[in-house]
Amino acid sequence: MNITKDIENEAFFAYGANSWSAYQAQQLTKIKSNHDPVLNILKDYQIHPRNCLEIGASTGFRLKGIQQLFPDCQATGVDPSKKAIIEGKKQYPNIQLMQREADDLSCFPDESFDLLIGSFSMYVVDRMLLLKVVAEMDRVLEEHGRLILIDFFPVTPPVNECHPTKPTPSFSYKQNYEEIFRASGLYRLWHKETINDAACLKGNQRNSNNNLGERACITALIKGSKITYE
Ligand SMILES: C[S@@+](CC[C@H](N)C(=O)[O-])C[C@H]1O[C@@H](n2cnc3c(N)ncnc32)[C@H](O)[C@@H]1O
Repeated sequence: MNITKDIENEAFFAYGANSWSAYQAQQLTKIKSNHDPVLNILKDYQIHPRNCLEIGASTGFRLKGIQQLFPDCQATGVDPSKKAIIEGKKQYPNIQLMQREADDLSCFPDESFDLLIGSFSMYVVDRMLLLKVVAEMDRVLEEHGRLILIDFFPVTPPVNECHPTKPTPSFSYKQNYEEIFRASGLYRLWHKETINDAACLKGNQRNSNNNLGERACITALIKGSKITYE
C-alpha cells in the first residue's frame, strides 16, 4: 500500500472529485459550446470525428457541442466525479458518461477512438497515476487518431499548487502535458495556441491572458509512428 497515494486519492475523492458543486454547475452554464476551442479546431481543420472520448469530461458539456456539430459521432466521457456524471446524464442523455478515472479505461478495447480530449484534467491527475493515464489514453486512441489537450501553459517550471481542500490537501500540477506524448516520438504536433481560461468560458478564448500563471493552451497532436519516423 502506498500511503501518500492513498491519502491524496482520498482527499481528491472527498474534496475534489466529489465536491463538484452548484458553483461548478453554474460556471458551466456560461460556456458557449459554439465558441469552444476544441470545436474551433475541429471546424478549422475540417476534422469529422466518428468516435470521441473525453477524459475528465465533467458533465459532458463539450461532448454535447461535438455531437451537435457531428450528429453521427459517438461521444463518450469519463470523470471520477459522481455528481458531475449524475448532472450530465440529466442534461445530456445522448452522451455516454461513465464514472471512472482515466488510469483504467479497460472498459474500452484498444484503438476504440479517433478523437481523444483532455481539457484541464491532466493537471489534477494524481502523480502516481499520471503515466498510467498517458498509457491508457495512448492505448484507446487509434493509429492516426487525434489528441486534443487543453491545460495550463506556465512560463515558469511546473508549479504545484495546493487546493483549498481542507482538512487534507490535494494538488494540481501545471505543466505542458503534450510534451509527454511528443517525447515518445509517437505523436506529432499539428496545432498549438495559447488561450485564456477565464475568457474561454465567455467565448473570448483567443484573447491572451496577462496573468501568465493562468495562461493556458490548446494543443492538438496526431498519433502515428509512421508519421513521426521518416
Ligand atoms: C478542472 S475540471 C475540467 C472539466 C472540463 N474538462 C473542462 O474543460 O472544463 C477537471 C476534471 O477532471 C476530473 N478528473 C480528475 N482526476 C481525474 C482522473 N484521474 N481521471 C479522469 N478525470 C479526472 C475532475 O473530476 C474534473 O471534472
